[in-house]
Amino acid sequence: MKNALITGATSGIGASFARKLGKEGYNLYITGRRIEVIEKLAYDIRKKYHVKVTVVLADFTIPQEVDNLLKEIETVPFDFLINNVGFGHKKKFFDDTYEKQYEMIEAHINSFCKITYLVSRNMRKNKNGNIINVSSLAGFAPTSFNHLYSSTKSFITTFTESLHLELSPLGIRVQALCPGFTRSDFHKSLNIKEETFKNRWLVRWMDSDKVTELSLKSLNKKGGLYIPGLSNKILYTIVKFLPRKLYYSLARKMGM
Ligand SMILES: NC(=O)c1ccc[n+]([C@@H]2O[C@H](COP(=O)([O-])OP(=O)(O)OC[C@H]3O[C@@H](n4cnc5c(N)ncnc54)[C@H](OP(=O)(O)O)[C@@H]3O)[C@@H](O)[C@H]2O)c1
Repeated sequence: MKNALITGATSGIGASFARKLGKEGYNLYITGRRIEVIEKLAYDIRKKYHVKVTVVLADFTIPQEVDNLLKEIETVPFDFLINNVGFGHKKKFFDDTYEKQYEMIEAHINSFCKITYLVSRNMRKNKNGNIINVSSLAGFAPTSFNHLYSSTKSFITTFTESLHLELSPLGIRVQALCPGFTRSDFHKSLNIKEETFKNRWLVRWMDSDKVTELSLKSLNKKGGLYIPGLSNKILYTIVKFLPRKLYYSLARKMGM
């Protein structure tokens, strides 16, 4: 039986990955904090796909809770890891306490690296497995209000591409998934209103199911950086090749 760990599987992209891997016959270990929501998802997947689903509650901003999670799963031989936990900030960097801002570094960097290190053990031993690290298009686009989100996502992308370089010769597929605007609970938890979820210019909202479908399809062919959706690919290319001075001036004009 194959085992998969999906962090942040309560809703959105993580929940969609959980349904898809459950359908493929993986026994699932899924994490989240909203107990009723994640238990309902686990129940639905067990009922529909007859696989084992274990829910582990853990707040990734608290190192002790991540250590407890790792202790609980230390003997499980994982074949698939999806590092998906992620959240935004409501306040700008200097408008918040440093302790509150630091939580994002704890969740997006420290917990993320620790889980990758320990959970990939079995894959490295068997020279087989899959890792998807959910980053973001935001990692390529610094803004004046999202310092730690864009910079921690930038870390995740670079770190994951490095993992890809190291692990793909061993037969382990590694993907840095960089979605753009995706319908999920992400923006709701920041109290961003639904009416701002409109398609404008190159901003094309995608469904979580589409993002995960494209991600898994791409992982079957190749690892490394993956950006789902044509408009996201165009946005990435524009931001990457725009002269920095022009990027700063456009970002300021657009209130970024
Ligand atoms: N939505 C977008 O537009 C978008 C774009 C690019 C990248 N992403 C990335 O995609 C990933 C999934 O996000 P999503 O859009 O699917 O949003 P979502 O529906 O809000 O899902 C986020 C998941 O992360 C968990 N989570 C959040 N904070 C946590 C914490 N402190 N400790 C433990 N778990 C925590 C949530 O669980 P609980 O709520 O149960 O705690 C939930 O399962 C994130 O890494 C996000 O940065 C999203």
